[in-house]
Amino acid sequence: MKQRRWITVGAVAVATVAALNAVPATANRPYDPTAQSLGALGQRHGLQVGTAVDLAALNDANDPQYRRLAASEFSSVTAENAMKWESLEPTRGVYDWAAADQLVEFARRNKQSVRGHVLVWHSQLPTWLTSGVADGSISKQELRELLRKHITTVVSRYKGKIWQWDVVNEAVSDPWDTPSTLHYKGFWAQNLGPGYIADAFRWARAADPRALLFYNDYNIEAFGSGNPADDKSQFVYDMVKGLRAQGVPVDGIGSQGHLGTQYGNYDTLQVTAALKKFTSLGVATAFTEVDVRSELTEAVQAGNSAEINPRLQASAANFSVLMKACLAVRSCLSYTVWGFTDRHSWVPGWFNEPPQGMATIYDENYQPKRAYHELKSDLIFAGPPYVLPRIAPKPRR
Ligand code: G3I
Repeated sequence: MKQRRWITVGAVAVATVAALNAVPATANRPYDPTAQSLGALGQRHGLQVGTAVDLAALNDANDPQYRRLAASEFSSVTAENAMKWESLEPTRGVYDWAAADQLVEFARRNKQSVRGHVLVWHSQLPTWLTSGVADGSISKQELRELLRKHITTVVSRYKGKIWQWDVVNEAVSDPWDTPSTLHYKGFWAQNLGPGYIADAFRWARAADPRALLFYNDYNIEAFGSGNPADDKSQFVYDMVKGLRAQGVPVDGIGSQGHLGTQYGNYDTLQVTAALKKFTSLGVATAFTEVDVRSELTEAVQAGNSAEINPRLQASAANFSVLMKACLAVRSCLSYTVWGFTDRHSWVPGWFNEPPQGMATIYDENYQPKRAYHELKSDLIFAGPPYVLPRIAPKPRR
């Protein structure tokens, strides 16, 4: 009896793997995986391949390629800015849903899932909120209530339409901050203490029982010393472990994946090990904001190929390391790039000394770069027994 049950379980597993990896039949045409989109290739593994979307670019009638690629190449979208608090409630009590609604509708029409970004972050807060706290007209108690209301309002509006929410973003300091010992940083920790993190997840869960609730941060692609005083990944690991032990509904850890070719970065095995360690907490994982920037030296800007080629290759290698690690770990549910074209990337506007750029998978003229092709290859050449379909956790109550 027992044996028969295991045979059935085994047969179902094999059938699932086979179904996900089946070569789609096309009448009279050989299957050409290179002609498939990243999103379609990701589906073979149950992996969503997404992009952050710049709503201004999406609405630019003179830039139709942006909309076309955002719709056709990806299976998931994230609002780059449109769901941040300053965008949603620029004036106290007056919500402007236009841009966020538009993205959710765009995703529905294109059968894409949506990563909600972001409910609680120290940056891009409305001025009325930060100045009200600074001048004392908003008390700490009122601030906590405003946060509860904001989370409840936003999550309720999109209930059932958001697959993963970045509930809390970048709550932890970096080793270059003062003090250098890692700690909870920023506006929310300063004003409410770290207890806001548990509150935020509980409020989000109360508003949507089905969305997967993520903690999202950068520089957590690999573990370092293992000491939470200077190893940010370890700090986040301990934090999520502690939260879950208290029954806080954290369902996932999002690793942003903002890399640069000028740094040492990591290899696939290191990144795989990090995802596995996070998974051991019982949570999902995801790469949520992947891009790989490069320093734009004068030679690069002058078009010197001896300087450009190594950057394109290093960029592709780093995109690929994160993709391979994600594929190797079944809890890794999605791989999102933070913008897909150098025409619309936050990087050049952010890093000027020295200038940086070339951070995405398509160039400014929407030509796919080496990084795009490497991601595609990773998705094409992956399969059982090392790469198996994703396993999503049940949203925690
Ligand atoms: O909306 C104003 C516009 O009215 C004005 O004309 C223009 C002039 O500069 O600025 C516009 O606001 C900009 C906004 O993006 C929308 O384009 C801000 O200046 C600019 O600072 C802001 O940058 C965003 C950044 O977050 C802010 O921290 C980037 O686009 C966005 O990609 C970036 O995303 C973050 C993630 O949310 C969290 N992880 C890190 C990641 C990169 O910093």
